[in-house]
Amino acid sequence: MTAPHSPSTLPPSPARTHYAGDLRAEHVGQAVAVCGWVARRREHGEHLAFLDVRDRTGLVQCVVDGAHDLRSEYVVRVTGTVRPRPEGTENPALATGAVEVGDCEVEVLSVAEPPPFPLEGRVEVDETIRLRHRYVDLRSERMQRNLAVRAAAIGAIRGAMADQGFLEVETPLLIASTPEGARDFVVPSRQSPGEFYALPQSPQLFKQLCMVGGVDRYYQIARCLRDEDLRADRQFEFTQLDAEASFVTQDEVLAFITEAVGAAVEAATGERPGSFGAISWREAMDRFGSDKPDLRFGLELVDVTEVFAATGFNAFKAPCVKAIRVPDGGDATRSRLDDLTDRAKRWGAKGLVWMRVEADEITSPVAKFLSAEELAELRRATEAETGDLLLLVADSWHTTCHVLGLLRLELGRPPVTEGGFHFTWVVDFPLFESISDDGQPVPAHHPFTMPHPDDIELLDGATGDDLLAVRSQSYDLVLNGWELGSGSVRIHRADIQQRIFGLLGISEDEAQAKFGFLLDAFRYGAPPHAGFAFGIDRLVALLAGEENIREVIAFPKTQSGADPLTGAPGPVAPAQLEELGLRLLPRSTA
Ligand code: AMO
Ligand code: AMP
Repeated sequence: MTAPHSPSTLPPSPARTHYAGDLRAEHVGQAVAVCGWVARRREHGEHLAFLDVRDRTGLVQCVVDGAHDLRSEYVVRVTGTVRPRPEGTENPALATGAVEVGDCEVEVLSVAEPPPFPLEGRVEVDETIRLRHRYVDLRSERMQRNLAVRAAAIGAIRGAMADQGFLEVETPLLIASTPEGARDFVVPSRQSPGEFYALPQSPQLFKQLCMVGGVDRYYQIARCLRDEDLRADRQFEFTQLDAEASFVTQDEVLAFITEAVGAAVEAATGERPGSFGAISWREAMDRFGSDKPDLRFGLELVDVTEVFAATGFNAFKAPCVKAIRVPDGGDATRSRLDDLTDRAKRWGAKGLVWMRVEADEITSPVAKFLSAEELAELRRATEAETGDLLLLVADSWHTTCHVLGLLRLELGRPPVTEGGFHFTWVVDFPLFESISDDGQPVPAHHPFTMPHPDDIELLDGATGDDLLAVRSQSYDLVLNGWELGSGSVRIHRADIQQRIFGLLGISEDEAQAKFGFLLDAFRYGAPPHAGFAFGIDRLVALLAGEENIREVIAFPKTQSGADPLTGAPGPVAPAQLEELGLRLLPRSTA
């Protein structure tokens, strides 16, 4: 991205000698023509006005003598001569703040209605109104900057992938369903009434087919579509850097992606990120209570199960007890502590114990149930000091980690714009995420994920919780507590695949019906292969300092999945339904 105070490299054209944001002291004395929108207009009597003219690069002040009729957001072409601003009126906050364009002639190219919301500064405007007039919103400095960061990041990713020998291949948008775990968007077929295409949740199966096809190293800046609940980091439509390579190890995939992400960060910020580091899934859960740890701050979870191994306090008689030490947190108010307790319960804990660490005692509503030795050991284990607050949860390992992980974020997570960029790989994910009520394991990634070579033996005859200990060769990339991407080494051998399908309760017929084309392809010579995909919207949002990915998408959907600009989704004409062989059910009025 061009730094705010360095001129752009945009070329002139016959109508325009310079971009507004590029004018500097070196242009003084030159006759110039700038084109853009009237950002602001200050009248000085009837015959003098100061206009700020805005274009993609920024704004410049233009001084207009004589009568005129100019309003905000009129589109103008201004000709005049660059001159220094009078002494004392320079604006160091503005890149063009040392100069102005004087003796201006203004040609109005378009008149404009008053904008539906102010464009200067960060005024909070209702989301629907912003998106309904996105074409106005896009003129703001914020949106122009975000689009520029996005373009720079994507350009750098393409360059880095090509330099590493990856071939850009486009895969189809009208496909049969892929197993990524969300709902599909479906498209009715006119030629085969009653039949549907699915829009891809990701190019997963096609990139694996590319490997069978000898593409060797594939990548794509891929649009993906998933019908899932929208959140700050989720849209129905989003963009991935999707990649796959043959005859490579997990470490090689991590290196390819590290290079692409590093290039994107450098293009956006001017600096390469530091090394990414890797942490196992189990360690991430143990220390941060999350498989997407935010490493910008401490407040790590401390295991104190041993301290309470023989406790008489019922609440702590649990498989796992962990604590968070909040330095100097001892002065938290009672209502704050009650609020934290309520949250812990909402997140699934049975309760939350808090303790204030004082010079010669620990005060807590439950201190009377704990022995002096337990309290002393706890102080030692957590390295607590006078003035600190301790928060403890006792439960299953999973629940304890999960609840304290969320409390940790609540207590310490910095705003998105602070703390720099802390990337980490999370490796050795479990193969299965959980065991369903009917005893079936639920895959943590997708069913083509290769088990960890050291754990393949564990699959034999294992059931229930034993299966949860089986690690996989899958890995995530995490930035500041956001999951940026996921990938895995894939199963390319029919025998292992059959065992996994068997464990997942997917019958041969079902496997054939769902992914038969992939299994068929594998019969014709499948190389070992592995891949990854990361969310470009998420990466760019964090690089741009935005909390919500819609700020880095030109035309996003609202939280409820609508596009207030074009009115999508909307009804179609009865004739179109007829042609598609579709009939609508009456809407439920529930
Ligand atoms: P996964 O489903 O984990 O993996 O998706 C990879 C990354 O895509 C981004 N992402 C999203 N971004 C915005 N809105 C959404 N609704 C959304 N859903 C996902 C996230 C996520 O980490 N085929 C596998 C990858 C592989 O195994 O190679 C896949 O798609 O940043
Ligand atoms: P109770 O025995 O349920 O009255 O709880 C006594 C105190 O311990 C309360 O402050 C609870 O919030 C807390 N507590 C109860 N169960 C747990 C638990 N599993 N982990 C942490 N704190 C708990």
